[in-house]
Amino acid sequence: MFRLSLKHKIYAVLLIGLVTAVVYASQFGPERAHTGAPGDLGDCTVCHDDRVPANSGGGRIQIGNFPALYNPSQTYTLTVNVQDSSPGRRRWGFQLTAIDSNGNRAGTLAPLGSDTQIATTGSAVGDRQYIEHSEIGTFPGTTGGHTWQIRWTAPSTDVGTVNFFAAGNAADNSGSNRNDNIYTTNATSESPSTIVGVSLTSALDNQTLVVGQHYTITWSSSNQGSIDGYELRYSTDDGATFPISNLIFSTTDASVHTYDWTVPNKPTTQGRLRIQALPKSGGSPAEVRSGRFSISGSGSGQALPVIIAVSGKGNKIFVNGDNFQDGAVVILGSDNQKTRNDDTDPTHWLICKKAGKFINPGTTAILKVHNPDGTESAPFSYFRPVIDPP
Ligand code: HEC
Repeated sequence: MFRLSLKHKIYAVLLIGLVTAVVYASQFGPERAHTGAPGDLGDCTVCHDDRVPANSGGGRIQIGNFPALYNPSQTYTLTVNVQDSSPGRRRWGFQLTAIDSNGNRAGTLAPLGSDTQIATTGSAVGDRQYIEHSEIGTFPGTTGGHTWQIRWTAPSTDVGTVNFFAAGNAADNSGSNRNDNIYTTNATSESPSTIVGVSLTSALDNQTLVVGQHYTITWSSSNQGSIDGYELRYSTDDGATFPISNLIFSTTDASVHTYDWTVPNKPTTQGRLRIQALPKSGGSPAEVRSGRFSISGSGSGQALPVIIAVSGKGNKIFVNGDNFQDGAVVILGSDNQKTRNDDTDPTHWLICKKAGKFINPGTTAILKVHNPDGTESAPFSYFRPVIDPP
């Protein structure tokens, strides 16, 4: 202990008097702007300090019942719970505000009963509104904690993400601002427009892909302006896991909706593709998964034929790809076609002089390439344009 000189005692008394005058009865409801929200004057530790930062005690404050996604103009009943079972916690208080990402008031707060009130003392920060305990809402003498119910009416228009900030006091019921445990928290309610969507437009269901094959994955998205990017992965255990090592592609360009996938050397009959659209709001991603597909590969390491592109001109069909052996045969539907390897680039080009007769313009045909060693490419669907390209 230290002793105060008479002069200091006088100062101390003056100071206490001054503080009580300025800090108008906080147990009746703290001054505005002490929720710990960005832009606020701080949290309750501004006065309830004891030189201990908020959230040092063994308790917590929680905002409950808030909508993950708000509907404009809808009224919600939120809960604010301060809990602390450490010894001597016998009086409770809180303050809460709701702001948008620019820090402006978001929606309208209102008491549900006499245990809460809208704060009117202290300086206002912008147009923010603060709700807090009332004097009878501190429940002096009670232990464990307290839950208040409050009303929040969402803004009448979509203002983007709404953040709730709250600070709470697990007090010792001394009627002073000493020896109290202060806690802070926040919660988020997303605006309806932050909901992003993604869907697969290339159907992989029941397909067999071949190692090394090029497969074009295409997808579409909704609410693209709220998308930060996409991530594509595949699973080889029917979707139980999509490990990071199975990353196909990721991009931060929300306008990208296609990817040319070179099928990896991971033979499986339990393949699944997953596309996630990552929302700018930082919320959970939207995702879509393909049906089950297979990857067939060469255990022996032999190179399988792969079709990359097909074009037609009159009765002729040109098949472009890889690993075509001498004597490879194009199969149209289930019929072998008379096929010859291109003279100058035989492993990449096959030509069928007559097959074009069986593919009507404006229709889709399924082609495969069968190598003399018995290996076969994955089916390739070729849409024949109404007018052949020159
Ligand atoms: C500007 C200073 C100041 C701020 C900020 C402040 N308080 Fe206080 N508080 C006091 C003072 C001084 C007392 C004791 C005298 C009184 O009630 O006015 C007190 C007392 C209390 C009590 C009663 C304590 C007890 O042990 O009996 C509660 C509960 C309380 N405050 C809650 C809060 C909460 C919750 C916040 C933050 C949202 C807060 N206060 C912010 C100054 C403040």
